[in-house]
Amino acid sequence: MVQVTFKVRRFNPETDEKPYWQEAQLDVPDTERVVDVLRLLKGKHEGWSGLAFRASCVHGICGSDAMLINGINRLACKTLVRDVGTSITVEPIKGLPVKRDLLVDMEPFFASYKALKPWLITNGSAPQKERLQSPEDREVFDDTTKCILCGACTTSCPSFWANGEFLGPATIVNAHRFIFDSRDQGSKERLEILNQKNGIWRCRTIFNCTDACPRDIQITKAIGQVKKAIMFGKA
Ligand code: SF4
Ligand code: F3S
Repeated sequence: MVQVTFKVRRFNPETDEKPYWQEAQLDVPDTERVVDVLRLLKGKHEGWSGLAFRASCVHGICGSDAMLINGINRLACKTLVRDVGTSITVEPIKGLPVKRDLLVDMEPFFASYKALKPWLITNGSAPQKERLQSPEDREVFDDTTKCILCGACTTSCPSFWANGEFLGPATIVNAHRFIFDSRDQGSKERLEILNQKNGIWRCRTIFNCTDACPRDIQITKAIGQVKKAIMFGKA
């Protein structure tokens, strides 16, 4: 067991004028996940019962529990106490409106995602069986299929903090997944959307997004490939 000092940035817009830090000391195994410490606090510690946060699958699949933990965006269910030390701060991810405590409004994030039409676009009639694709063609966009829409990339991007209208890296990753899919025929319209004022050119190649991704997606590389496709066409 280790003694941990846990600080959470709390805010209830209905009762608080501004955010404040709430602190607790507790003994936990160093293999405890941050999400479990939050659940322990909420369930068993006086003054914490109203703590608001999302955690759906708690196994790194649904992407609901991205938080700023010791200053870095991470999934609370994939972060162990021993990964971050005995003094732990937890804040909501940045750049999206805080609804309460660690719970942010994800609507603007998903509105950007939807704007890029994240589904297969095809012309003409459907084939009798499946749409075939070679393993080599599938490999081209394999990395960007791994996205779980956690928002850790977009909310770690200084360009997004400065301008919430920027479509953001998560949207570009998911556009990449279709733009480079050999079966898809919607890349022209997706590239046109990304070439607009708040599109891909707001990316200044800062790399925070790549560092933050819990799926280890090479986000900045994918963004570079999409920029190249806008300028010179798809390879
Ligand atoms: Fe999360 Fe990575 Fe997808 Fe961004 S690209 S939303 S960090 S999984
Ligand atoms: Fe932002 Fe990532 Fe570009 S952090 S500036 S989207 S490389």
